[in-house]
Amino acid sequence: MIVCISAVSAHQYMARLEDPLLLQLKVTEYHVRCSVVSRYAVTSIQSSVWNQLSVTKEAAFEVDLPSAAFISNFTISSNGKVYVAQVKERAAARKIYDAAKKQGRTAGLVATKEREIERFRVAVSAPPGVRLSFFLTYEELLMRRLGRYEVSLGLRPGQPVDNMTVEITLSEKTGINFIRVLPLKTSRLLNHAHGDSDPPPSTQIQKSPHCAQIHYSPSVQQQTAVSAQGINADFILHYDVELRDIMGDIQVFNGYFVHYFAPRGLPVVPKDVIFVIDISGSMIGTKIKQTKQAMSTILGDLREGDHFNIITFSDRVQTWRKGRTVRATRQNVRDAREFVKRISAEGWTNINAALLSAAQLVSPLTTPSSRRVPLVIFLTDGEATIGVTASDTILTNARKALGSASLFGLAFGDDADFLLLKRLALDNRGVARMVYPANLLG
Ligand SMILES: *[C@@H]1O[C@H](CO)[C@@H](O)[C@H](O)[C@H]1NC(C)=O
Ligand SMILES: *[C@@H]1O[C@H](CO)[C@@H](O)[C@H](O)[C@H]1NC(C)=O
Repeated sequence: MIVCISAVSAHQYMARLEDPLLLQLKVTEYHVRCSVVSRYAVTSIQSSVWNQLSVTKEAAFEVDLPSAAFISNFTISSNGKVYVAQVKERAAARKIYDAAKKQGRTAGLVATKEREIERFRVAVSAPPGVRLSFFLTYEELLMRRLGRYEVSLGLRPGQPVDNMTVEITLSEKTGINFIRVLPLKTSRLLNHAHGDSDPPPSTQIQKSPHCAQIHYSPSVQQQTAVSAQGINADFILHYDVELRDIMGDIQVFNGYFVHYFAPRGLPVVPKDVIFVIDISGSMIGTKIKQTKQAMSTILGDLREGDHFNIITFSDRVQTWRKGRTVRATRQNVRDAREFVKRISAEGWTNINAALLSAAQLVSPLTTPSSRRVPLVIFLTDGEATIGVTASDTILTNARKALGSASLFGLAFGDDADFLLLKRLALDNRGVARMVYPANLLG
């Protein structure tokens, strides 16, 4: 099978859609599933096509991605066989694109960038009779703007589809304040007329205080009522949470950090937190500045019952307070902020050594007398470049050393080894998330 990633301008795209003489492959199913947990959205799109024609045709798959999203999985399957697996992230996708371009193929993964949207396009040649399914998963942290969060799902199957569904599940620990499904947005340029504010026909919304489920499955008639070529629009959901992070909206990075590690409105459990911060050369500039700001906020959010320590690492590892975590007294928090202020970024990235140093601070705590919850917050913007660099070895070492501590990974920007952080978190009762420098997010 030939996989060709090719450029398409918005203009060509429209022209192709509108050409009635062009025989299209049949899209048999189109499903969009989106799960939002604490403002972190994971969206999967499945498009299944069948070449019902007697000639080989190109089967194309196009998705508009929010520019802050990254692709965590891309798969094409045909008759149970997987042809292309795992585009790791946006950066990796870009590398594929660049490589293809160098070889002189018509290439353009992220072909158009209009406003905050990037278009992902992949085309494969499909022999007669073949059935193909494209699966794309992307992840993003939702941003609060104009008093609410927005989930916007591009529905562009290219034709009316018999089996088309959109499923959104929302889960917010602090409670959902309101939730609203807008009419389909068929143009990026126009806003809705004020009077027209009903959800599109067939939308079902179920809401409880902390969860919501939205189901949308338009019939073929309902799709052709939108346009003869089917739906080509954004399905948009607005919601807000009951209790907002006070600092959270000022800066995305802060908001993210604060939300996950000092969540407001949750029962207070004393924590032993070890912050492990990458200060290698690539952090220079905006990233280190934002990390410092975020740290200052987070330190201010620690409670007196909490204990903490800070580790910075590049090719060497520095621990703020030797050998133990300290109580989050005012004085200690003040000292820690001073320490953070003086951080400067340079050098390589020794992830393994940093993890082992964190583990040394954690392990004495895991005695039954300590009721505190051990947490390691690990932030990096790169991959391991010095010391132990093999992922499997790092994972094994971390698992052995960390004992019962939970590890939360923050991958800062496209160059971070998100896969490694995900596996580390998975192995150690935590979660891993991507965060982006705030200026990328507007
Ligand atoms: C990627 O998506 C495919 C299709 O949905 C799925 O089978 C596979 O398990 C996913 N891989 C990962 C690593 O999530
Ligand atoms: C639509 O597709 C889903 C997912 O593949 C499947 O479970 C369901 O049975 C299909 N519905 C119909 C009416 O074909």
